[in-house]
Amino acid sequence: MRDDAHFVARCARGLEPQLAAEILQLELGGVTAVGHRTVRFRAWRPYDPGVTELRTADDVFLLAAADRETGTGTGRSTLSALHRLATRTNPEQLLRHRDALLPHPTGRTAGVEVSASLLGRRRFNRYDAEDAVGHALAARLGVPYHPRRTEGAPPPGYAAWRLTLDGTGATLLLRITPRPLHRRPYKQRSVPGTLHPPLAAAMTTLADIGPGHTVLDPCCGAGTLLIEAALAHPEAAHYRGYDIARTALEAARANKKEAATDHIRVHRGDAGRLPLASATVDRVVCNPPWGTQVDPRARLAESPAAWWRELRRVLTPTGSAVVLLPTPAPLAEALRSGLLPTHIQRVHLAGTPTYLVKLIPTPGQSPPPGPTPPPAPGHLGDRTPRPTAQSHNPATAGHSSRSRFLRGLNN
Ligand SMILES: C[S@@+](CC[C@H](N)C(=O)[O-])C[C@H]1O[C@@H](n2cnc3c(N)ncnc32)[C@H](O)[C@@H]1O
Repeated sequence: MRDDAHFVARCARGLEPQLAAEILQLELGGVTAVGHRTVRFRAWRPYDPGVTELRTADDVFLLAAADRETGTGTGRSTLSALHRLATRTNPEQLLRHRDALLPHPTGRTAGVEVSASLLGRRRFNRYDAEDAVGHALAARLGVPYHPRRTEGAPPPGYAAWRLTLDGTGATLLLRITPRPLHRRPYKQRSVPGTLHPPLAAAMTTLADIGPGHTVLDPCCGAGTLLIEAALAHPEAAHYRGYDIARTALEAARANKKEAATDHIRVHRGDAGRLPLASATVDRVVCNPPWGTQVDPRARLAESPAAWWRELRRVLTPTGSAVVLLPTPAPLAEALRSGLLPTHIQRVHLAGTPTYLVKLIPTPGQSPPPGPTPPPAPGHLGDRTPRPTAQSHNPATAGHSSRSRFLRGLNN
């Protein structure tokens, strides 16, 4: 087996710095390259199973082969070069290495499947590239090749290889875990707009959660942020989530149970009027309903500014919030509410940009007086706010409230 193991971890575009930092912090290896959605590293310990536990990565692979010249060709002769590249690898050794990293090795490989991604124009398509590599690997291993061109997803037991031609070179990789790292086993239930777990993990790292902190997600959905936070920081004392939708709370309860993070508490509540005393929350992590994927309801639909006012009100003077925004425009309202952005980072999810923002209470500025009624005194409550005569009917929440919400945020 090889002792100089090289790995490639993939992530959402924009999260490369967090992924590189996680690799270094876990002392998994030395980072040798950071590229488009990838971080390459040379392992300190070749069989450290920690590589399969990276939380900000979408997936992790063993590096089988890399060649600059092969990957930059655009003509069909590149296909023969790809075939030769795959023939030069040692797939048996790589599969043994993969199995040594897994708690439950998959055992004999039933076959080979290859998934290729190509950047730029070429005189061949991804299926041609997959076939060139797949036939070579299958022949070396003496097992069948499963062409995705005609047969779709492969049956279980097939070794998953990945080929990337990104314009700067060809890279051939072997997936380590049977399913991608971003598919968390705890996430059995979902809701519209639910967060990509590696992005949630990056947000909780940025939140800098410490022992004894009270951590809040005022629009918790399926609970992804709180669960990622609780898994990474079990020492934080209180994890609290609210959501207006009962289905979201059911999903969050099922997921937190699956994750064995039962100390998270989720309750029905309106993020526009949280049943929490002022200055009681150390950390907020949230991707609120901005109206792009999920409509705001109740008080958030009536009054967009209520989101920021409540955030500012519940934060302690040394508190901070990490939130996702569809554009930086809503920050104008955040500033008016006494919150100061200290970090803004653009991340792409499924090709759509989103902004990861950290905010702190603006030093020397007290929370603005607002129409929010004082909450119940004392410790974190779980009383659901009662609907008032003016309150919005969630059942009728639609485009008018959504556009009002975004308009208000963008003012
Ligand atoms: C983008 S989703 C959050 C997804 C969540 N982070 C996850 O990973 O599943 C926004 C959530 O805000 C909730 N919501 C809408 N209006 C709300 C309000 N006024 N108060 C609290 N939650 C609200 C929606 O029900 C939805 O679950």
